[in-house]
Amino acid sequence: MARHLITSALPYINGIKHLGNMVGSMLPADVYARFLRQTGRETLYICATDEHGTPAELAAKEAGLPVAEFCAQQHDLQKAVYDGFGLNFDYFGRSSSPENREITQHFARQLQKNGFIEERSIRQVYSLADGRFLPDRYIVGTCPHCGYDKARGDQCENCTRVLDPTDLIDARSAISGSSDLEVRETKHLFLLQSKLQGEVEAWIDEHGKDWPVLASSIARKWLTEGLNDRAITRDLDWGVPVPADTWPELAAEGKVFYVWFDAPVEYIGATKEWADQDPENRDWKSWWYDATDVRYTEFMAKDNVPFHTVMFPATELGTREPWKKVDYVKAFNWLTYYGGKFSTSQKRGVFTDAALELLPADYWRYFLMANAPESDDTSFTWELFASTVNKDLADVLGNFVNRVLSFSRKRFGDAVPAGNEAGAAEAALGQEVARLLAEYEEHMECLQFRKAAQALRALWSAGNSYLETKAPWLEIKSDPDAAALTLRTAMNLIHLYAVVSEPFVPASAAAMRSAFALPADERTWITQDEARSLSLVPAGTPFTVPPVLFAKISDEDLASYKERFGGAEEA
Ligand code: MF3
Ligand code: ZN
Repeated sequence: MARHLITSALPYINGIKHLGNMVGSMLPADVYARFLRQTGRETLYICATDEHGTPAELAAKEAGLPVAEFCAQQHDLQKAVYDGFGLNFDYFGRSSSPENREITQHFARQLQKNGFIEERSIRQVYSLADGRFLPDRYIVGTCPHCGYDKARGDQCENCTRVLDPTDLIDARSAISGSSDLEVRETKHLFLLQSKLQGEVEAWIDEHGKDWPVLASSIARKWLTEGLNDRAITRDLDWGVPVPADTWPELAAEGKVFYVWFDAPVEYIGATKEWADQDPENRDWKSWWYDATDVRYTEFMAKDNVPFHTVMFPATELGTREPWKKVDYVKAFNWLTYYGGKFSTSQKRGVFTDAALELLPADYWRYFLMANAPESDDTSFTWELFASTVNKDLADVLGNFVNRVLSFSRKRFGDAVPAGNEAGAAEAALGQEVARLLAEYEEHMECLQFRKAAQALRALWSAGNSYLETKAPWLEIKSDPDAAALTLRTAMNLIHLYAVVSEPFVPASAAAMRSAFALPADERTWITQDEARSLSLVPAGTPFTVPPVLFAKISDEDLASYKERFGGAEEA
């Protein structure tokens, strides 16, 4: 059986992420990884913070901290939020790790050896006052097109035109403000992607066949436009240094690799970080090198697709070593905020830390996955959020659990009642539950999360329908044994929900599971037979009534969220 390797796009270190980042990468990866583990597949889910590059340097500067310190702090802050969201990484690393440096440098040496790297001279802006070359983003000035006076060297934020730093009027350094700038020749390493075009094409022809259209169409578009050779080094203090053994001159000048060169390598680097924590028992290389028994799935938003389907595979191919390449690319569209952009820089939308202050993770996890932007963008609105939580979680699932357990305790005490043998209604319910479970599993296997969430909700509502039909609150009056059967069956459903809902709502699943004092409940999943017979929780099992699983979002809550975060008018 295949082992499963899972990665989600590495979140930039420069700040806490918003819900849009979460739904397009880490959350679905976690849901999928949990499902695979529960259904008995060996699974490794790896992620990390993406710590290099100018955004990190600039954010550190803004925070008034040395960049290494800034990154260490931000890494811990992000990790704490992801823990809060119940993201069960096997390892959450850092792209600034020694492991990543080592492997990134190894990749570069291999590419050099195989003729895919070339040193070229380019002309770049040098700041005399700062004593350094300035990356495009570090140069500000007036936009020649619209006159905006804080345009950056790579792009004008105001009119969105792409710029060259030499286009700027009154150009100055973003670091010191000095306009004492000159253009100098400097050498950089170029990755000769053009030489790998044919191989990447052949690889995508073979492996991209069953990717979702969103991923394969973006990959093909990039290939049609042609792969250009790209500069893979930068003049920055913070990054993976160019190795001196191979490029002594560039190393002496302090060049580092471009962030997009070392970031994907960190998928491998973080796996080594994971293994280095327990070297006796963990073998990072078996997951990545000549790993023919591994199925590798990547999660990302659509803007990341070109790097993962074209550029990183090209890099891997160019090493001429058998590095594991992606098997399945799960790409997502955007989650918008009332149809507009979530924006980290403009602080619009809901950020992951603020979300957790408002409500427990399961509310967000379920909402986001049930509305995941799989085939199209999804617009986040507080109205949609509140109605999803109130209907699906509070009414359908939470209320069922509470109603059944409280009523049974009141009438039959603290143990699952015995009552009649299962009859025709229970047999029909068992058939229906087994069918829906199979449907749920199938959608999860295909990473169709919206459909999987629908099947899960259908499982939850099957319980409600059964309860409404049997009406144990009426049965109890004339036939307590019949009522006991209904309640025992419903309690078995609760246990089934506890097991199968775990990928989506892990904390609530744990609360449901612990309601029953089952001896050694080590069950990880439910088989078709078990779903049909609904008898894993036998009569006599002691139980407790958990606190209300999901509180409803009231009209007042809704109004206050909209006021605090801005509704339609702000987007
Ligand atoms: N940090 C990038 C982003 O947020 C994603 C990096 S993914 C990796 O868009 F492949 F580079 F690791
Ligand atoms: Zn402009």
